[in-house]
Amino acid sequence: MTLKNYDIAELRRLDVAHHLPAQQDHKLMKELGGSRIITRGAGCTIYDGDGHALLDGMAGLWCVQVGYGREELAQAAHDQMLELAYYNTFFKTAAPPTVMLAAKISQLLGGNLSHVFFNNSGSEAIDTVMRLARYYWQAKGQPERNILIARTNGYHGSTIAGASLGGMKSMHKQGGPWVPGIEHVIQPYLFGEAFGEDPLAFGERAANAIEQRILEVGPEKVAAVVAEPVQGAGGVIIPPENYWPRVEAICRKYGVLLAVDEVICGFGRLGSWFGFQHYGVKPDLVSMAKGISSGYLPISAVGVADHIVDVLREVGGDFTHGYTYSGHPTSAAVALKNIEILEREGLVERTAKDTGPYLAAALAKLA
Ligand SMILES: Cc1ncc(COP(=O)(O)O)c(C=O)c1O
Repeated sequence: MTLKNYDIAELRRLDVAHHLPAQQDHKLMKELGGSRIITRGAGCTIYDGDGHALLDGMAGLWCVQVGYGREELAQAAHDQMLELAYYNTFFKTAAPPTVMLAAKISQLLGGNLSHVFFNNSGSEAIDTVMRLARYYWQAKGQPERNILIARTNGYHGSTIAGASLGGMKSMHKQGGPWVPGIEHVIQPYLFGEAFGEDPLAFGERAANAIEQRILEVGPEKVAAVVAEPVQGAGGVIIPPENYWPRVEAICRKYGVLLAVDEVICGFGRLGSWFGFQHYGVKPDLVSMAKGISSGYLPISAVGVADHIVDVLREVGGDFTHGYTYSGHPTSAAVALKNIEILEREGLVERTAKDTGPYLAAALAKLA
């Protein structure tokens, strides 16, 4: 069997025999006789080994922004692999696509988010946010400011840090102990938390829960608030419109860093490059992944505000954090080309002006 000439029944047998798929019920997978084998993708369609064509409504896992089968992305990877497939950023070194991608993302982020730290997955980006927020306060001489506030039913990944920060009960029930210094407050989910309440009153109340918790633990102990602009994995939960401005105001009032987790919302999902731009707030840290490369290669990033970078530069010494594949040249080259496609084809604008309104209208009809 080769990658060009495979036997679906045999692949399913090997899948049960050797593969543990992600986020799965492994008993059920065995009973089902293995994973559905997905063999090909083109545009918005994926194909399985039994010949079914499936509309990939979720864009993989909310990541295949530009659709499947883009030759330009394959070409970008091919060219970069032949030029310099890999090098690291540990040795005071960086490859051209890495630096160019950092500059491009900074431009898209706008405002005072002029710097970017690279990782490989959304979970790793969240790890960076957590370490950076805590290190920032330590560097400023306030090491006791290390508590991170997140929301119940928020999702921030599956590593120990990401699962700890996330508010997923199903995850917290498995394993542990979890990372200390994390507080969870109510999610801004009107339907689930306060059905029938006035949306704006609830938006205010859900945001105020953050202030209340800051006061309970002591403002001098809180490093950052971390939250998804729209909760993705929790159920695509759109907060009331007054929620985000109020959260931002609370963070500013107590000098707490505001970190937005844009792993899903980033790169156009809300009709803006980033979700925080849609809600008109100014975060200090921005985690992103998925749509950055349309999932063609793993890469993630954290946008960092100037005042945080200033502190890192003032204090000096190594910030001992980073990954073998931070700023991977081939992933960065693919991400650059992907962003070029998003811009050239006006896909972010189309989401705001065409696809988004169309889906909203169709949903309203269905309702
Ligand atoms: C908001 C958010 N943060 C973090 C993650 C984790 O990303 P990854 O699965 O790439 O580690 C996800 C994944 O869906 C996510 O939606």
